[in-house]
Amino acid sequence: MAQNWTPSSWREKPIQQVPDYPDLAALAATEERLAKFPPLVFAGEARRLKSALANVAEGKGFLLQGGDCAESFAEHGADTIRDFFRAFLQMAVVLTFGAQQPVVKVGRIAGQFAKPRSSGIEKQGDVTLPSYRGDIINGIEFTEEARIPNPERQIMAYRQSAATLNLLRAFAMGGYANLDNVHQWMLGFVKDSPQAERYRKLADRISETMDFMKAIGITSENHPSLRETDFFTSHEALLLGYEQALTRVDSTSGDWYATSGHMIWIGDRTRQPDHAHIEYCRGIKNPIGLKCGPSLTSDGLLELIDLLNPANEAGRLTLICRFGHDKVAENLPRLIRAVEREGKKVVWSCDPMHGNTITLNNYKTRPFERILSEVESFFQIHRAEGTHPGGIHIEMTGNDVTECTGGARALSGDDLADRYHTHCDPRLNADQALELAFLLAERMKGGRDEKRMVVNG
Ligand code: TRP
Ligand code: MN
Repeated sequence: MAQNWTPSSWREKPIQQVPDYPDLAALAATEERLAKFPPLVFAGEARRLKSALANVAEGKGFLLQGGDCAESFAEHGADTIRDFFRAFLQMAVVLTFGAQQPVVKVGRIAGQFAKPRSSGIEKQGDVTLPSYRGDIINGIEFTEEARIPNPERQIMAYRQSAATLNLLRAFAMGGYANLDNVHQWMLGFVKDSPQAERYRKLADRISETMDFMKAIGITSENHPSLRETDFFTSHEALLLGYEQALTRVDSTSGDWYATSGHMIWIGDRTRQPDHAHIEYCRGIKNPIGLKCGPSLTSDGLLELIDLLNPANEAGRLTLICRFGHDKVAENLPRLIRAVEREGKKVVWSCDPMHGNTITLNNYKTRPFERILSEVESFFQIHRAEGTHPGGIHIEMTGNDVTECTGGARALSGDDLADRYHTHCDPRLNADQALELAFLLAERMKGGRDEKRMVVNG
């Protein structure tokens, strides 16, 4: 076990981004209740995810992580979850084919409720109120009452997470994730896309592969792995009181695990090495993500790696890089070189969302071209450094929202008002997300062909 660590040792450290709960006794009572609730995930599942991520760290897999910026109580419904899962699985198939490697599937879901804010207050006209911090803390409505942090919301978030996870498990194991279904949905997407011509080639090759498997007798009836998939959950471990209440000892190993989700990550704003969020995360055994932004120095990163992964265990740590399309070339190579020089085992993942936010017609938005451009640079840089571009981390929804501009349907700034529903940052809609997967798969394949030519030539 980590030295001098307990599930509550973070409380002795300085901390960023804490809500101002007016009633601390009520908060403590809620945390006590939560501590008696059943875990949402099982330690053995977190270990399984860690070993899948270890594969990625070794260059033998690809991580797809995605979901809402912030889940909301208002949008908790079966259709939302189903449509997200449907879009996500289609991306997974396309990327599996593009990478010719297993895709590790991790949703930003069933627990992604707490949001760090750049300002503690929000001003509208002459009125100033505390900022919205996510449904697990306060309400998004711009009223004094809604913005008061309410511990009861933690119970609601827990219950929503449980219900969401329950449906996801049913989808993943109960037949919905059958490769034949996902393949058909994907063909439907291609047929309706304005870029159909461009995507058809890859789609046809997937179809041929499916037909070939059928011809030799590999079907979902005789191969459960074709109708089932491993799907994991993740969220930012921001609200540490909630995380602590769900931190449990695994009886098989005697180790502590966060049981609020399989993987949790540390935000770019809360990664100070001597502060509370790093303290909490260093003691639990789950796979951990660390958001890396432009302000992270190479030495700062190495210090965090030593704190979070002292045993240098592959799969433990995923570095989620979020620099921005115009800053990735300046920042990623130096971090890669530092990590390589010290022989640290990490998964490199690209979050092309958070460094590419702009304001257009008073909407926070993200141009699709910038998102694609950051991921492309991420791939190119890894290729040049001889390291593995291990994954992507995106904010997406299965719904037909208008939050990010661009894409095959060329959403413009004027379209944003139509269906702008996010509770926090702008998400790729289902079509844009799938398009991103197709464009990346094309490039992954291109990279392999290049390598092959070098080997053969
Ligand atoms: N079990 C395999 C996997 O998860 C194949 C598979 C089944 C699959 N259903 C899927 C892959 C849906 C992607 C999407 O990789
Ligand atoms: Mn976000």
